[in-house]
Amino acid sequence: MKLLEEKIKNDGKVLSDQVLKVDSFLNHQIDPQLMLEIGKEFARIFEAEGITKIVTIESSGIAPAVMAGLQMNVPVIFARKRKSLTLVDELISATVHSFTKNETNEISISKKYVNEIDRVLIIDDFLANGEAALGLVDIVQKSGAKVAGIGIVIEKSFQPGAQRLKELGLRVESLARIASLSNGEVTYINEIVEELI
Ligand code: G4P
Repeated sequence: MKLLEEKIKNDGKVLSDQVLKVDSFLNHQIDPQLMLEIGKEFARIFEAEGITKIVTIESSGIAPAVMAGLQMNVPVIFARKRKSLTLVDELISATVHSFTKNETNEISISKKYVNEIDRVLIIDDFLANGEAALGLVDIVQKSGAKVAGIGIVIEKSFQPGAQRLKELGLRVESLARIASLSNGEVTYINEIVEELI
């Protein structure tokens, strides 16, 4: 998605070969207009999938997921990383280990909101090692619903997440696919492909 790729190049900061900081529009301050365009793009890409629910994870997945939900006219459920006072229904949980942060979280959603009749689109802001997305896939499958697709805002394609999900036969669509963050620079997969042509 051109608009997003340009935004990352203009406003993102490469912190290391592994980490991109995008807290001026995605992870802390949020650019609502950009999120709206992202929502429209996910709605377009997954139009034929008959999506009935969107599932994401707090906190940075919520903004793009809500905008996609608005465009697709379906509810959005976000998995919680901590127990909530009011989340007293029967829960479906999965364990997610973050290699980046070296912490393990139990993530949960209420059984009430996703079930056998649903076709779920999973949305998240970043795809790195794939742990969060795999945890969400686990939860959705435990609910009896079908994972109809996975929509990612920024995929770090040099990390194994996308490959791990595709190996499970899942449809993964990422709006920006980063091939490398070397030398303080963002290089996209499509730039490399264009160079080869
Ligand atoms: P994984 O789920 O793909 O395995 O990712 P990983 O454990 O490596 O990442 C854990 C957290 O770090 C996630 O956020 C993820 O979005 C974020 N993250 C991973 N790589 C980057 C990066 O290059 N830049 C930024 N800005 N974030 C990255 P989280 O802990 O769930 O935080 P949040 O959603 O509450 O913001």
